[in-house]
Amino acid sequence: MNPSKRLGIALAVSLAEGISAWVALAQSPSVRTTPERPGDAVALGRYLVKTTGCNDCHTSGYNAAAGNLAEAQWLTGDNLGWKGPWGTTYATNLRLYFAGLTEAQWLAHARVMEPRPPMPWFNLRAMSDTDLRAIYRYVKAAGPAGEPAPAYLPPGKTPAGPFVQFP
Ligand code: HEC
Repeated sequence: MNPSKRLGIALAVSLAEGISAWVALAQSPSVRTTPERPGDAVALGRYLVKTTGCNDCHTSGYNAAAGNLAEAQWLTGDNLGWKGPWGTTYATNLRLYFAGLTEAQWLAHARVMEPRPPMPWFNLRAMSDTDLRAIYRYVKAAGPAGEPAPAYLPPGKTPAGPFVQFP
């Protein structure tokens, strides 16, 4: 066998070994740390709220606690202000917000809404109807809780409470 052919076979063998090791790793239950995307709407909504960042802004103290916050407090809004050229915004208490909305109203609103920064409305708009419905059903099932977030302040007003300053 010529040397280049021998090298080719050696490479093919090591590639095959690499792939089978990778497949074994991927199939091993011990390395699967992320749960599968749930099928049930409420469970899917919970999963989406947790993984797409809604809690990061809409749940007071969620980041500081590295996500270890009682679920009863999820999405009850925050009194941390986000101050920039748009004024000062406060992440809405979604537990109260969804209580006043039908599922059909939510689906229609989510497709057109453009709240002020730093709300990433474009991420919601990119979600499927299934995902938007699931978020709605999860928050509805959790029920209303907490107090409304502070009211929006127009540019030029200094918030009384804590706030993050954007340039
Ligand atoms: C980076 C922070 C941030 C993240 C992440 C975030 N939001 Fe918001 N959200 C806000 C702020 C701030 C407001 C209030 C904006 C305003 O006053 O105009 C808001 C407003 C809203 C509103 C009210 C819209 C309206 O028309 O009144 C909804 C609904 C909402 N967010 C849902 C969500 C959902 C669902 C997620 C997760 C997919 C999410 N948000 C992620 C910051 C955030």
